[in-house]
Amino acid sequence: MTPGNDAMRRRFASLVSMTEGALSECFTGDPPHRALLDAMRYSLNAGGKRVRAVLTLEFARAAGGGERAALGAACAAEMLHAYSLIHDDLPCMDDSDTRRGKPSNHVVFGEWMATLAGDALQAAAFERVLLSPLPPERTARMALTLARAAGPDGICGGQALDMAAEGKRLAVGQIEQIHARKTAALFMACARMGVESAGGGDALVESAERYAESLGLAFQIRDDVLDVESDSETLGKPAQADAYNVKSTFASLLGAEECERLIREETQKAIDALAPAFADGAFLVWLARTLSERKG
Ligand code: IPE
Ligand code: IPE
Ligand code: MG
Ligand code: MG
Ligand code: MG
Repeated sequence: MTPGNDAMRRRFASLVSMTEGALSECFTGDPPHRALLDAMRYSLNAGGKRVRAVLTLEFARAAGGGERAALGAACAAEMLHAYSLIHDDLPCMDDSDTRRGKPSNHVVFGEWMATLAGDALQAAAFERVLLSPLPPERTARMALTLARAAGPDGICGGQALDMAAEGKRLAVGQIEQIHARKTAALFMACARMGVESAGGGDALVESAERYAESLGLAFQIRDDVLDVESDSETLGKPAQADAYNVKSTFASLLGAEECERLIREETQKAIDALAPAFADGAFLVWLARTLSERKG
């Protein structure tokens, strides 16, 4: 472990802790619909790597802004992500009983409550962005960015393609289209919202999006590989779930060796996209390399 890596790990931990501090204050109180808030908090505060929040906060800093101003967008990204996982695990989708080492939301709260918890987390994400302590045109821009990543051209479109493809053998290009929407779109929105919170111009936005697009693709290829190679305890969610659901993935189509080559290639593409727009991209370089080698 090099001293440099230690500093990067510390920075990652401090951004996670800033995010979790803010998230832990959400959806408290004792309204009549408290059971819904319990279901929302169960998934929102269940841990997770918090990669999307970290991306948002780091791009805010790298674009010359403040992390505090981007915290609303970072929390929003994690809310949207939590919703997407609750719905992804439902019996009508991937039918997964565990998530982040705990029973999935619908296993604890039932299907209708889990569905509503996801819906409410998605709406709350937009509320959180729009309440950011920033000039209204910046918050509007960030909300638009998040909406595009969440909707038919983003997560929902990708998830629809993913579900419709079950039982079919896809071409690599088709899987890439799914991954770009269901996973990379939110990574791109996080990077972009970070830059937008700082009032960064087109060159920074473009570079941030190219980084996050490749990072997101590498991240989902790694997820597909881990689904094949790892075990449920390490992952905190069912391993071999993709084979069980007869999904075409990079891992099933190309095999481990080609997946490793692609992950390396996309990680390098992400790193190369940072310069010259971002003068201080050291943490983002470390993040891309670290995520490419993750085990969970
Ligand atoms: C899981 O995302 C879903 C994918 C896009 C692969 P993460 O691996 O970021 O999940 P958490 O938030 O760390 O649990
Ligand atoms: C889900 O992809 C991506 C989302 C948008 C939720 P997966 O279905 O592969 O995610 P895991 O493996 O269940 O976390
Ligand atoms: Mg899925
Ligand atoms: Mg799944
Ligand atoms: Mg998966």
